Amino acid sequence: MDLIVTSPPYWRRRNYGHPKQLGQEPTPEAYVEALVEVLDGWRHVLRPHASVFVNLGDTYRDGFLMGVPARFEVAVRQAGWNVANHIVWTKSVGRPEPRPYRLASRHEAIFHLTLARRATHYFFDLFALSADLGRSANPGDVWDLHPARSRSDHIAPFPPELARRAILVACPERVCTSCGRPFTRRLAPTAELDPSRPQAVRAMELFRQHGLTDAHLAAIRAVGISDAGKGKALQNGAGRNAEHVKELAAEAKKALGGYFREFTFAPKRHVGWEGCDCGAPTTPGTVLDPFMGSGTTLRVAQELGRHARGVDLVVPDQLKTVH
Ligand SMILES: C[S@@+](CC[C@H](N)C(=O)[O-])C[C@H]1O[C@@H](n2cnc3c(N)ncnc32)[C@H](O)[C@@H]1O
Repeated sequence: MDLIVTSPPYWRRRNYGHPKQLGQEPTPEAYVEALVEVLDGWRHVLRPHASVFVNLGDTYRDGFLMGVPARFEVAVRQAGWNVANHIVWTKSVGRPEPRPYRLASRHEAIFHLTLARRATHYFFDLFALSADLGRSANPGDVWDLHPARSRSDHIAPFPPELARRAILVACPERVCTSCGRPFTRRLAPTAELDPSRPQAVRAMELFRQHGLTDAHLAAIRAVGISDAGKGKALQNGAGRNAEHVKELAAEAKKALGGYFREFTFAPKRHVGWEGCDCGAPTTPGTVLDPFMGSGTTLRVAQELGRHARGVDLVVPDQLKTVH
């Protein structure tokens, strides 16, 4: 498996009426222990670059929050997992809160976990997620997602968009069928900037108006942050650039004024794939949802061309052919 995307039953929120169900433990501590035990059972099916996205909500008892996501975050670390991100799923709409003594709950946690020892060792395709969201910048760890309308009898589906984002960012499009390594993107900077940002649009206008060229662009990037005020004082790298590069960068700086830095960190485009040396064919990555419910994760994975597997105590008839 390359990725797990799942939402286990939250503690004491819904009784699925099955003797082996998770979520009915007597205390939050016992629940977290059971959940971490389940997680540890997944270790042997995960490839070294794999990630696990766990969506977890909290529970009120006697009027107060039990802090289940926070307890879980501590416990998984102690069990040897690494937490790459704690994403906050915000809901601009939700159920009304009848109690006058607290605010309506409008967020849940999504933990991005990995067993990789180094942050550069798990598969992470930031480019695919940003491109899907139509942005060049990092989309951040606050996701405003609309709760799903149920497409089935299942009572607790999660938004397809949640699974979509997790799969785009953490499930490889291509994995070597021989060694199991994922292919990663080769990216190259572009001259185009993000048209959704007014500063970028102005920077592009100035670039064209002043007849700046690709050579100017290359010079801006060569000089980079070392020419940006504070950076100049802190770094000593500027001297490494050839005189003509510095001249071109100075020309560009004069033309672009305060918009010079827009081109320093320009967006990138996909130019190819980088993989192993096996020469074997590749296959799409595989996503697992071990609490698949109505099968949201599986459907989205298939829409995105990935392999999908699912497990549940109760598998709806219409899903028996999908997983
Ligand atoms: C919150 S729902 C998942 C909803 C799912 N994300 C969807 O989109 O429909 C949790 C699921 O976990 C299942 N479940 C509960 N205990 C389980 C266990 N011990 N092993 C496997 N599945 C379990 C329940 O049957 C339920 O379908």
